[in-house]
Amino acid sequence: MDYAATGQQALARIADAGDLDSVEALRVEFLGKQGSISGLLKTLGAMSPDERQSEGPQIHGLREAVTAALTSRKEVLEGAALEARLAGESIDLSLPAPEAPRGSIHPVSQVMDELAEIFADLGFAVATGPEIEDDWHNFTALNMPESHPARAMHDTFYFPDKSDSTTAPGGTTNAPSGTYGHQMLLRTHTSPVQIRTMLEQGAPLRIIAPGRVYRSDSDATHTPMFHQIEGLVIDKHIHLGHLKWTLETFLKAFFERDDIVLRLRPSYFPFTEPSVEVDTGYSFEGGRRVVGGSGDDPGHSWMELLGSGMVNRHVLEAGGLDPDEWQGFAFGVGVDRLAMLKYGMNDLRAFFDGDVRWLAHYGFSALDVPTLSGGVGAGV
Ligand code: DAH
Repeated sequence: MDYAATGQQALARIADAGDLDSVEALRVEFLGKQGSISGLLKTLGAMSPDERQSEGPQIHGLREAVTAALTSRKEVLEGAALEARLAGESIDLSLPAPEAPRGSIHPVSQVMDELAEIFADLGFAVATGPEIEDDWHNFTALNMPESHPARAMHDTFYFPDKSDSTTAPGGTTNAPSGTYGHQMLLRTHTSPVQIRTMLEQGAPLRIIAPGRVYRSDSDATHTPMFHQIEGLVIDKHIHLGHLKWTLETFLKAFFERDDIVLRLRPSYFPFTEPSVEVDTGYSFEGGRRVVGGSGDDPGHSWMELLGSGMVNRHVLEAGGLDPDEWQGFAFGVGVDRLAMLKYGMNDLRAFFDGDVRWLAHYGFSALDVPTLSGGVGAGV
């Protein structure tokens, strides 16, 4: 048999193959189970040793040459196919841009950015904590032991399984070891971030902690998920005057007016002592609440805005701090409510409907990053 001629013919046909399917068909024809070269290989078994010695290398050589030719032809064709696809998918950069930018910043994100900017100017860092919390950080460490009635007021979403591990997932605790189990829950407020930050960073501290919180509650003014921002200052010789100044300065910057008047009322929160509820004066203008002035002024009233107070000694201890050395104040405020008051929305539920018409109306330009120099509420 003239292996050289067989080989030349095979290589010529492979070189002529115009597409990947033809290459595959040739592979089957030559090298498949029933293929012609496979057939030649099978004849080796029936040959005499002498014959095999002369024929063997020729048949194997033929198979190698054909295999190599098939591989290289396939590579050439695949390369050409890729080139063609890339050419077809090229982007025409001369197309006009859309007339108006699409997408906008949600008012909650906008307000959180504004708050971060305002508090950064006062030397506050942003701290975070997990939304899936354990009952020690969410309640116990905040001076709400298991039987505390305030726990019932939180309408907590609990997770079904009660593990009895003694270390909190993902964090240190200052809990007495082995004395409690971790019931996992969706945090009901941002206050557990106070504990986590004290344990992780010690004192002094100046932080805000914005984020999502969850309560099993739903009507026109409550949604099962909403947003809070927590503030915490720990230092030496901190007193209520610092709290009042900080809140006044923050609210003046946030509402962008100087006539913000606060009324501090004694209240109760387990994690603060004394506790203070803070009201602001407001009036109705054009059918919507506008913050400003004293609630005692004609045409004005008071509205409750946030909770705050001096950090309770038990909370400092749970945070690993010596309450005789360190004092602090804390506050917590609803971010959605701040957004509604500043930007005049009246239905909280619309915040979470994801209706693009609402977002187009109330959303903010992505390019209008809040800055103190440019005005934190720019782009309304
Ligand atoms: N955690 C409270 C709540 O969700 C709000 C709050 C009140 C936070 C007083 C504080 C505070 O830090 O001092 O209702």
